[in-house]
Amino acid sequence: MKPQALLTVSAVAVAQQVYVPIDGPSSRSQCAINNTYATALPSYSFRQFSFTQTETVRIATSIPAPTTTTSYAPPYASLSPLVTSLTTTQWGNWEPSSNVSATDFGSPYGNASWSALWTAVPWVNFTRGIYSTTVEPTPVPSSELVLPPPEVFGPQGCYSFPADFMLGVAASAVQIEGAIADEGRTPVHIDVLSLITPGAASDFVANENYYLYKQDIERIAAMGVKYYRFSIPWTRILPFALPDTPVNQQGLSHYDDLINFVLEKGMLPAIMLHHTDSPFQFYSNISEIGIASGTGIGYTDSGFQRSYKNVSYEDAFVNYGKIVMTHFADRVPIWWTFNEPLLGSRNGKSIDTVIKAHARLYHFYHEEIKGTGKVSLTFNNNFGVPRDPSNADDVDAANHFNSFQLATFANPIFLGLDYPESYTATIADYVPLTEEDLRYINGTADFFSIQPYTATVVSPPPNDTIAACAANTSHPLRPYCVTQSTTTTTGWNIGYRSQSYVYLTPTYFRTYLNYLWNTFRAPLAVTEFGFPVFGEAEKEQQDQEFDSPRSW
Ligand SMILES: *[C@@H]1O[C@H](CO)[C@@H](O)[C@H](O)[C@H]1NC(C)=O
Ligand SMILES: *[C@@H]1O[C@H](CO)[C@@H](O)[C@H](O)[C@H]1NC(C)=O
Ligand SMILES: *[C@@H]1O[C@H](CO)[C@@H](O)[C@H](O)[C@H]1NC(C)=O
Ligand SMILES: *[C@@H]1O[C@H](CO)[C@@H](O)[C@H](O)[C@H]1NC(C)=O
Ligand SMILES: *[C@@H]1O[C@H](CO)[C@@H](O)[C@H](O)[C@H]1NC(C)=O
Ligand SMILES: *[C@@H]1O[C@H](CO)[C@@H](O)[C@H](O)[C@H]1NC(C)=O
Ligand SMILES: *[C@@H]1O[C@H](CO)[C@@H](O)[C@H](O)[C@H]1NC(C)=O
Ligand SMILES: *[C@@H]1O[C@H](CO)[C@@H](O)[C@H](O)[C@H]1NC(C)=O
Ligand SMILES: *[C@@H]1O[C@H](CO)[C@@H](O)[C@H](O)[C@H]1NC(C)=O
Repeated sequence: MKPQALLTVSAVAVAQQVYVPIDGPSSRSQCAINNTYATALPSYSFRQFSFTQTETVRIATSIPAPTTTTSYAPPYASLSPLVTSLTTTQWGNWEPSSNVSATDFGSPYGNASWSALWTAVPWVNFTRGIYSTTVEPTPVPSSELVLPPPEVFGPQGCYSFPADFMLGVAASAVQIEGAIADEGRTPVHIDVLSLITPGAASDFVANENYYLYKQDIERIAAMGVKYYRFSIPWTRILPFALPDTPVNQQGLSHYDDLINFVLEKGMLPAIMLHHTDSPFQFYSNISEIGIASGTGIGYTDSGFQRSYKNVSYEDAFVNYGKIVMTHFADRVPIWWTFNEPLLGSRNGKSIDTVIKAHARLYHFYHEEIKGTGKVSLTFNNNFGVPRDPSNADDVDAANHFNSFQLATFANPIFLGLDYPESYTATIADYVPLTEEDLRYINGTADFFSIQPYTATVVSPPPNDTIAACAANTSHPLRPYCVTQSTTTTTGWNIGYRSQSYVYLTPTYFRTYLNYLWNTFRAPLAVTEFGFPVFGEAEKEQQDQEFDSPRSW
């Protein structure tokens, strides 16, 4: 038991002292043994003053290019029989201002049919970037390679990552590529979001990474990063989305070159097959991509439950995945099928599609391609922590919140177990999994992949039980049916104010890793982990680059 201490609080305006009994500062066991200052008094003396500070100049250096490359599967030339006789062609760019008029109307996959996929959307403020061809990387000026001074209170050698620690950066095509109507790509659902969301910025240009990828990759390599995760838009590979439609040669060549460039710079490529970019052909009109609050599971409709020309999303996605895997599996050691699929799920069929499409691609990769790399899918979940860990109802609510978001996919995929009750009690049209399904799905991920931006303080609904909410399709707290907050019983917010995730909570991170490891029993990868510093955009560039908050 710790000794009780008395904390003296002097109020400035009130000439009165308030004594608050508290459970004082905790002892610093790590400092006790060798901290001579704790036991000895310094001796005092004077000397001549001089400025003794030194400037430390630290320069970034990139990883050396590898002299050997590892192969994770046979090359496409050997794997091509696994994907039925593909035909490749190309379509080029669509420019709304010139509308190059193709006349090959009789051809189902010709230029006229391709352009029609673009003109079918009533674009507003459609903009193009400034590049139209791959830009060679500009050397980084050596003046830009000078790192900021070390942090004063940084770790002093107590922490180090194990040699096999995988440090990487992650991007996604819809967030960085731009060039959305170039080199054969056709529209994806998120391209049109701005057309149904009043006030949403329509950004069709992003960072133009599609043309600037060499520069971006070179700079990431200079940071000492080992892995580069990127996503490939399905419609850049298969503009007409479905099996037996032609493959876009320009798209294949682009990612082929990108992968080779990543390897040349000493990093390893890692591919996300689906990142918020479902072919727009799965929708009959633009208003279908939103989900009215409370009626779905996620925020938007990624179309997983849909079909197009009678081909299910599952079959169409598996076909696309096989094409990408057979082409790049020789050089790519890590694959994900879906990014945060819960957030694009409308109903039970959506979840069923994701799990089964994922499992089919996993089996294809390991059993048919005989790939030696790793395959997973990555989940969203801001760790639900009980408001009061000693209150059983709060703990139940946190378990309900976490299991809905994770175990819905991870019970079958990691443990071979059926969906959790949190999901089946809430989503009435869930598609039951048979014993045979579970046998096929069990073990179809090589590691557990998570993107924990923050934590959420969870307690039961204020006016109802969780069960009553789950059974009530018009309940305002659906689909999770818990109260979410940023404060625990102390009344303090749980972390540091952030720009876009409310609070960042390093405190709960270790607990979360323990929860995941012990619940799903697989190696863990954190594949997104943002740190949106509050008010960063208002800082001057040099202050942004100094970036103490992220260093801490
Ligand atoms: C304390 O310092 C001594 C002498 O430098 C060293 O041998 C010992 O390992 C240190 N102990 C701890 C716990 O750091
Ligand atoms: C579309 O037009 C371009 C330029 O004329 C041509 O190179 C390409 O083969 C055409 N694509 C198809 C699918 O017909
Ligand atoms: C090209 O087609 C789009 C969509 O139909 C239309 O909005 C635009 O005005 C057309 N541009 C020209 C120059 O005809
Ligand atoms: C298009 O641009 C105009 C002018 O910037 C803006 O007022 C309008 O909201 C934009 N419309 C959409 C749908 O983005
Ligand atoms: C578009 O989809 C919405 C939502 O499903 C539907 O209400 C609307 O009737 C559809 N519009 C057309 C023109 O089909
Ligand atoms: C879809 O299948 C149904 C039933 O088999 C058939 O009647 C319909 O014509 C098909 N639609 C398309 C677009 O192929
Ligand atoms: C899932 O597969 C693992 C590994 O083969 C096995 O240990 C486990 O028992 C399976 N789960 C079920 C529910 O059968
Ligand atoms: C709970 O009930 C109160 C009082 O009727 C109401 O103001 C509040 O909106 C309800 N909260 C929820 C989440 O239903
Ligand atoms: C379902 O929730 C709504 C909104 O809170 C409420 O008005 C309604 O009474 C609830 N229905 C039942 C059966 O509890």
